[in-house]
Amino acid sequence: MQWLQKDPDMNVVGSHFSFATIDTEYFNVFNPAGSTFDLAAFAPDVIIHTGALTHVDHCETHPEESFHHTVESTIAALELAEKYHSKFVYISTDYIFDGEAGPYREYDATNPLSVYGKHKLQAEEIIREKTDDHLILRITNVYGDEVRGKNFIAFLARSAQTGEERTLRLPVDQYATPINARDIAKFVCQLIKDDKQGTYHLASDEYLNRVELAKKVLDYFPSSRMKIEAALSCELGQAAPRPLKGGLKTDKIKNEYPELKFTTVEDYLEERYGI
Ligand SMILES: NC(=O)c1ccc[n+]([C@@H]2O[C@H](COP(=O)([O-])OP(=O)(O)OC[C@H]3O[C@@H](n4cnc5c(N)ncnc54)[C@H](OP(=O)(O)O)[C@@H]3O)[C@@H](O)[C@H]2O)c1
Repeated sequence: MQWLQKDPDMNVVGSHFSFATIDTEYFNVFNPAGSTFDLAAFAPDVIIHTGALTHVDHCETHPEESFHHTVESTIAALELAEKYHSKFVYISTDYIFDGEAGPYREYDATNPLSVYGKHKLQAEEIIREKTDDHLILRITNVYGDEVRGKNFIAFLARSAQTGEERTLRLPVDQYATPINARDIAKFVCQLIKDDKQGTYHLASDEYLNRVELAKKVLDYFPSSRMKIEAALSCELGQAAPRPLKGGLKTDKIKNEYPELKFTTVEDYLEERYGI
């Protein structure tokens, strides 16, 4: 959101629900009138809906809660988009695929394995039914600077820097295409400015399993005391099944924007932690 706000051609207001930050307004998509942000006065040209229940294992054991936060929140946000004649941008995921044959293209057959994936796909389908003026942007393994530092790379870098001594058991068979949040913002801005519609995959060209990704980060911090132990997903007892060969292909957006590039994990580490 901070990157979107830096775009001089856009007037962007970010919202929070439970986690306030200095640059966001409180907004509950189920109760716009009870929110501190006056959406009607702002009259948005575009609504970017990121609301969802994103704890994948929790979703598996709490499907009703997942449905509410992921599917019903999308329906509520779509109603607002209809009311204010706004373009609707939705952030989706590679968890709508089964991971038998990733990385995936936009038109590949979907087959979500988890409750989270099913609800994200259901939300996509509702959007396509309700409005042509939408963008569905699928992403996976997001990293980058964020206040809570809760993404995998931020967590690893923090642990490595503080000298924490810990062994992490990570799935060696879960592959994805990590993406820097700043690249998402860059492409979102471009697609909106060009008034594009439809589904796009956003991803780097790196295809890494969790162990490879963690090693890439920890190698950057030679004094790290974190250790990695490779495990198979079936040994980890995760409540929700994961798409193993997940990840996303980006031929479509690269063909439309050959000049725009996706950055790599190393680019990020160099920029963020390099001397
Ligand atoms: N991170 C990834 O690697 C990844 C990968 C694929 C797809 N995605 C998608 O990207 C989106 C953002 O995910 P994230 O990783 O940033 O997780 P997150 O922090 O859990 O994002 C969910 C967002 O929804 C907001 N929200 C929840 N209920 C709301 C409500 N009733 N009204 C308004 N806002 C509400 C939350 O606000 P508060 O935080 O203030 O509660 C939060 O900003 C999700 O749609 C997710 O499915 C993420």
